[in-house]
Amino acid sequence: MQAVVLVGGEGTRLRPLTYGTPKPMVPIVGVPYLARTMERLFEAGIREVILAAGYMPQAIVDYFGDGSRLDMEITYAIEQEPLGTAGALKNVEQHLTGPFFVLNGDVLTSLDLTAMMAFHRQAGGLGVLHLIRVEDPSAFGCVVRGADGRIGRFVEKPPQGSEPTDEVNAGTYLLEPEVLQAIPAGRNVSIERETFPQLLAAGKPLYAYVTQDYWIDLGRPEHYLAAHRDILSGAMPLRLEPGLTGAVAQAKHHSVRLFAPVHLDPDVQIEPGAEIGPNVVLGRGCRIGAGAVLRDCVLWEDVVVEAGALIEEAIVASRTRIGRGSVIGRGSVIGHDVEVEAGSIVAPGARLGPGTPLPIP
Ligand code: GTP
Repeated sequence: MQAVVLVGGEGTRLRPLTYGTPKPMVPIVGVPYLARTMERLFEAGIREVILAAGYMPQAIVDYFGDGSRLDMEITYAIEQEPLGTAGALKNVEQHLTGPFFVLNGDVLTSLDLTAMMAFHRQAGGLGVLHLIRVEDPSAFGCVVRGADGRIGRFVEKPPQGSEPTDEVNAGTYLLEPEVLQAIPAGRNVSIERETFPQLLAAGKPLYAYVTQDYWIDLGRPEHYLAAHRDILSGAMPLRLEPGLTGAVAQAKHHSVRLFAPVHLDPDVQIEPGAEIGPNVVLGRGCRIGAGAVLRDCVLWEDVVVEAGALIEEAIVASRTRIGRGSVIGRGSVIGHDVEVEAGSIVAPGARLGPGTPLPIP
């Protein structure tokens, strides 16, 4: 079985993080998200992966190469112009030899791909879509199905209160090659909005695979932080790199107040009197000054937090420096290589890119 992972999006909602790092390379507890996806594919016995990329592809190629390090075979298809979620599949048609998985490159889920393959073999049809139940379906693509799982219609982002179902498209598909015939070549095509509805209109059977798995779309900063909280609490099972948690970190960093859960790379330095946690992830090379307070935040690599700074509910990308005594408001997202001057008050929800603070869309 082959898999196509869609990793071509610009990740605008994660800006400014995605100015320096394409979304699939954004770290999830220190490991690029796409590496975690590769691990899931490997565990399901999939060795041939096609990465449909477009935005900042070099960072992806540099990290994964031809896949041999992972015992996998990776083919890259780099789009000059974004082809959309179906156009990206049409673009790799020549590499596909049979039924294949399609994975949105920004969904974190505990979905069992092997079980989904078994479901497809049993259900038949042109493809299977993973569905998940959510509390507010109005923000998603609703998928209406019959008791036998056969999909009846798609309703994209219905107004609140008029949702036909709480089951939504969770961004993992298992498709037969015949689906590719329904996608026009050479232009941007959306699989959710065009291809799937067209297949239904033509009477082609698609089936829903509904599970209760952990599932979150990492594409928004608040979801990214929520995913980290869920990983640290164990709600989302994920194998973590060796790191310091709770008591171990306490032993290494004397006179640091730690509130579990936390995950600290072994290569972090924390000065006395700092207060870390709960729900804090510190990447390799981070340095935290005396008396700094960090809660509910994810700091990537080589972030320097000077003495007495306060960071709450925020994401800070690599090599950024938070000056002495600064206060980073809740919901802030700070990009790579930013210098936050000592004593700054960063407003809640701010998005700061490199150089001067920018209003970022
Ligand atoms: P936003 O700009 O924040 O909406 O993020 P995004 O550009 O990643 O878009 P979205 O989250 O809707 O995309 C869902 C998935 O499809 C992500 O994994 C994207 O990388 C991927 N994707 C979206 N558009 C394209 C495209 O034109 N080509 C390819 N290859 N992948 C795409």
